[in-house]
Amino acid sequence: EPSDMAQFKTILVTGGAGYIGSHCVVDLLETGYEVIAIDNFANAVGDDDGSPALRRVEQITGKKVVFYRADLLNKEQINDIFDKHRVECVIHFAALKAVGESMMQPLLYYQNNLLGMLNLLEVMRSHNCFQLVFSSSCTVYGEPEWLPITEVHPTGKITNVYGRTKYFIEEMLKDLSAADERWNVISLRYFNPVGAHPSGLIGEDPTKEFTNLMPFMAQVALGKKPALTVFGSDYPTPDGTGVRDYIHVMDLAAGHVAALRMISEKHIGLKVYNLGTGRGVSVKELVTVFERVTGAKVPLKYEARRHGDITAMWADPTLAKEELGWTSQYTVEEMCTDFWRWQTMNPDGYPKKAMKPNHIV
Ligand code: NAD
Ligand code: WQD
Repeated sequence: EPSDMAQFKTILVTGGAGYIGSHCVVDLLETGYEVIAIDNFANAVGDDDGSPALRRVEQITGKKVVFYRADLLNKEQINDIFDKHRVECVIHFAALKAVGESMMQPLLYYQNNLLGMLNLLEVMRSHNCFQLVFSSSCTVYGEPEWLPITEVHPTGKITNVYGRTKYFIEEMLKDLSAADERWNVISLRYFNPVGAHPSGLIGEDPTKEFTNLMPFMAQVALGKKPALTVFGSDYPTPDGTGVRDYIHVMDLAAGHVAALRMISEKHIGLKVYNLGTGRGVSVKELVTVFERVTGAKVPLKYEARRHGDITAMWADPTLAKEELGWTSQYTVEEMCTDFWRWQTMNPDGYPKKAMKPNHIV
């Protein structure tokens, strides 16, 4: 049942063809929002005919997504989109996110992530749009000083460039909301997003090299890679492997819908929330659950710790529960089953040739 409040409100989703963005668009459409998505296909499949991921989103929801192939670094393009549509709120997913690449190409990351955000904020302001939900990351906390991590944990002691772009943007948003009270912003710090839409129609299909655990493990299970390298088995954790707070991407999507509701209901200035389950899961545990629910084998190879990795990190999600009314619903089993369904239904990802669209503007 669409919520009355959401009816006819137009939300601009940047990075909408990406992994988390596409799943969030499903939830937004099902809640009753109108969605305009933009993406430059830096890390998503697509071409001038549009995004196969968003085609699938239309298939799942039976609703239309207006899509623009546009780059946040091209301010005029963004301006034109705001001229055409009355955007009430923006969810800003668009960013580059590969930690390793960010260390080798810092300027690329600072330019794309910081300048992209700046351009967007300026265009929003000039169109009297002051409602923003921003994709931040647990990476802003660095090595935890306590667990579970609450939002008041210090940020900024980060060991990678990607993470610093998130930190700098959060600082920018603080300054902005302090200077101009028209802004109403929520920064969501995601823990480790995994899983896929239960239909198996959409999932994670990056065009850049990826190194995250779940997609790598699935490639091994499919036989596309020989073994999963476990980075470090000598951590001071119960089984010696790294511990993370894996969260189903559909739970994340619901967190954005909750955040939107909050910023359209009341004036909050700037708020920050963790989106995690509150549960730490080790590499070995995740592999064990994945093998059990999928019936696939994941051969392991043990290696040294990965440079820059932290030992253990999980969220205290209490604040999001109390203030946004949001809690995670999906289990680790469902994260694995849903990711596997997507992988086995689409072993080569999305169709690379875009089908004839009718939603491209
Ligand atoms: P993703 O790469 O799948 O999605 C990001 C999308 O933004 C891509 O489709 C990419 O093509 C697009 N994009 C990048 N630069 C752009 C630009 N200049 N103009 C237009 N489009 C651009 O990544 P994701 O996992 O869906 O992540 C979404 C957001 O969440 C990112 O901001 C990411 O940093 C953040 N985040 C991700 C994780 C994670 O582990 N996946 C964790 C915490 C935070
Ligand atoms: C998870 C665990 C690895 C791959 C990254 C970003 C972070 C955030 C989330 C965006 C760790 C281990 C992994 C492998 C392994 N993204 N691992 N073998 O490092 O927690 O965080 O994604 O904001 O900023 O840094 O996620 O999936 O890479 O690793 O043993 O082949 O799996 O050591 O313990 P991470 P991950």
